[in-house]
Amino acid sequence: MASKRVTVFGGSGFLGRRIVKCLAAEGTEVCVGVRHPERASFLQRFGRDGQIELAHADVWDESTVAQAVKRSDSVINAVGHYVEKGPATFDAIHGQGALHVARQARQAGADRLIHISGLGADPASDSPYVRARGIGEVLVGEAFEGVTILRPGVIFGAGDSFFNTLAGMARQAPVLPLFGRGRTKLQPVFVGNVAEACVKVLADPSTKGEVYELGGPRVYTYKALVRLVLEQVDRRRALVPIPFLVWDTLAAFMAVLPNPPLTRDQVKLMKRDNVIEGTVSTLEDLGVAPVAVEEILPTYIE
Ligand SMILES: NC(=O)c1ccc[n+]([C@@H]2O[C@H](COP(=O)([O-])OP(=O)(O)OC[C@H]3O[C@@H](n4cnc5c(N)ncnc54)[C@H](OP(=O)(O)O)[C@@H]3O)[C@@H](O)[C@H]2O)c1
Repeated sequence: MASKRVTVFGGSGFLGRRIVKCLAAEGTEVCVGVRHPERASFLQRFGRDGQIELAHADVWDESTVAQAVKRSDSVINAVGHYVEKGPATFDAIHGQGALHVARQARQAGADRLIHISGLGADPASDSPYVRARGIGEVLVGEAFEGVTILRPGVIFGAGDSFFNTLAGMARQAPVLPLFGRGRTKLQPVFVGNVAEACVKVLADPSTKGEVYELGGPRVYTYKALVRLVLEQVDRRRALVPIPFLVWDTLAAFMAVLPNPPLTRDQVKLMKRDNVIEGTVSTLEDLGVAPVAVEEILPTYIE
């Protein structure tokens, strides 16, 4: 049965806004739960008058979560948090915050919960980000029976950080540094495919309790992706391998900055492959045809 009203936490984000748009196009009522609803008013043009409601919600503050899930039969947690700052740790947002969403969704009687996690989520990881994602999955599984977990790889599309950052560097920097030799494998997935997957999951009760790994149709090395971007922006640049030890040291120095451009955890993430493991279901199982980077990149990077 299709959802009548869906609360989307993180609905103003890079992925969340696509989810809201897809749901609105299906005629679903949407409540967007974010800390800054005043910055999310642009979402309302995706729906008819009154179809998209904006609610103040901080997943760390369970009472605001409770308000935002009221009257919704489905809930999607697409909250993004990439840099730890003060009390806003990965554990607080992707662990406890995710638990708050799951607990309040259950309490409000919601039938469906989609929890957006990430490829490789692992409660035993030495990366605080990956570990918090893994712990989050365990906590939401305990609090909401039948939660559907989606684990996307690097997500790309207009406004992404991965390819836009690379493109900016490719245009301006005389040489492009690689993480190690640039051999880390990645399987980027199109943001439109992830949003479509959410809609398909909500429409199909057999997806309850399932875990999906969402990746694109191809696996690339980091170096191959840098080359794709160089081709796209029509620049020639030397690609310089930089040992991970150097990146670790750089990130350690940057840690004192208020908004570090690179964190130790991000360096850690670049040391390991981020690809589908093949032990759980994928986009294809949801009837979504994954789109390749080569098809979409020219639509937003020039
Ligand atoms: N982007 C990727 O490449 C990628 C890859 C794999 C997995 N993912 C996962 O996909 C999900 C969405 O990522 P994204 O890249 O779209 O994130 P994003 O663009 O950074 O969006 C973050 C969203 O979360 C909201 N938010 C942040 N902290 C919040 C809090 N404490 N309480 C409530 N809302 C909060 C933000 O709105 P306010 O600031 O107004 O609160 C915003 O709507 C995340 O779970 C992310 O880990 C992303």
